[in-house]
Amino acid sequence: MKKLAIHPPITNASGPLSVTREELEALGRSASGAIVTKSMTHCPRVGNPEPRLVPHLEGQRGSINSMGLNNLGYRGYAELMSTLKSFGKLVIASISYAPCEHKLPLEEQYEEIAQTMIQSGADMLEINLSTPNLTGIPISNDPESIRRVLGPLCKKKKIPIGVKISPYNNTLLLFEEVAQLLMELKVDVVTTMNSEPNVMDIDLKTRTKVIKPREGYGGYGGPAILPIALAEVHRFYKFFKKYNSPIQIWGCGGIIQAEDAIKHFLAGASVVQVGTALLWKGTAVFAELSRGIEQWLKKNGHSHLEEIVGTVREL
Ligand SMILES: Cc1cc2nc3c(=O)[nH]c(=O)nc-3n(C[C@H](O)[C@H](O)[C@H](O)COP(=O)(O)O)c2cc1C
Repeated sequence: MKKLAIHPPITNASGPLSVTREELEALGRSASGAIVTKSMTHCPRVGNPEPRLVPHLEGQRGSINSMGLNNLGYRGYAELMSTLKSFGKLVIASISYAPCEHKLPLEEQYEEIAQTMIQSGADMLEINLSTPNLTGIPISNDPESIRRVLGPLCKKKKIPIGVKISPYNNTLLLFEEVAQLLMELKVDVVTTMNSEPNVMDIDLKTRTKVIKPREGYGGYGGPAILPIALAEVHRFYKFFKKYNSPIQIWGCGGIIQAEDAIKHFLAGASVVQVGTALLWKGTAVFAELSRGIEQWLKKNGHSHLEEIVGTVREL
């Protein structure tokens, strides 16, 4: 499969400001290297009750959310595809699972959505196996379910397949099992990471939890998770390098300014995604990051980004 070229190597992360037609068109007009849709499910979903998102946690540590996969449903995104493609950049369909009235099993929901997206003209699929906000346990923590979902999709692959996963933190045996499986299935891209799952914050004035769904437990994004994301990116980079695997790593988590993106590249990412920063800065963030990355490369004597990917040094 042809290597994906994303210029600039920055896209939105699925979810923030990527749900509606208006939001997706704004991404199309921005300097984002691609348009990544909100994770779509079989049936449209209104998502969890509000308040379900606090974009700015006190002290700018990051965001917390438990959106519950609010989205238009895959047919809604299929209808938008030709408009989104008219912006001349790659359109990446993020696909997720949620129990719905059709009661289709997990793998059949992914399959039906994937085939429709391919027929509609999506350039790549990002299979979201890591939504922490429905049950608290992401599919990416269960190798058997990963195989159930990705096996059929990868077998008859027509366009590149990326997979969005949760951080493995200190579950290192699980990490190795999953990394091995992703190589065996021949996915093209691993996007790490989704929100840090199951975190909570408290409003001291009201002494209440800051979000309502799931008894206040949500996913963490923004500056506080940068070190977690860097560790996840680097761990995958080293693993795939050891086995000479061509899987690309897309880094996501904690990128607010260009230096954060540079750290992701040094750790092994070849493309980066921004979620919370898009909520904070709007679509101008893509041009700002792109300029900052170019300037850093020039100042440090590099003419191509590839020269720095994975080159972090040991002490
Ligand atoms: C409001 C909101 C909605 C999100 N929805 C999705 C989603 O639908 N699919 C997905 O893969 N990730 C989703 N995420 C996770 C982000 O894509 C990203 O992985 C995470 O926020 C970490 O990146 P950041 O530190 O740049 O925010 C969501 C995050 C936020 C803040």
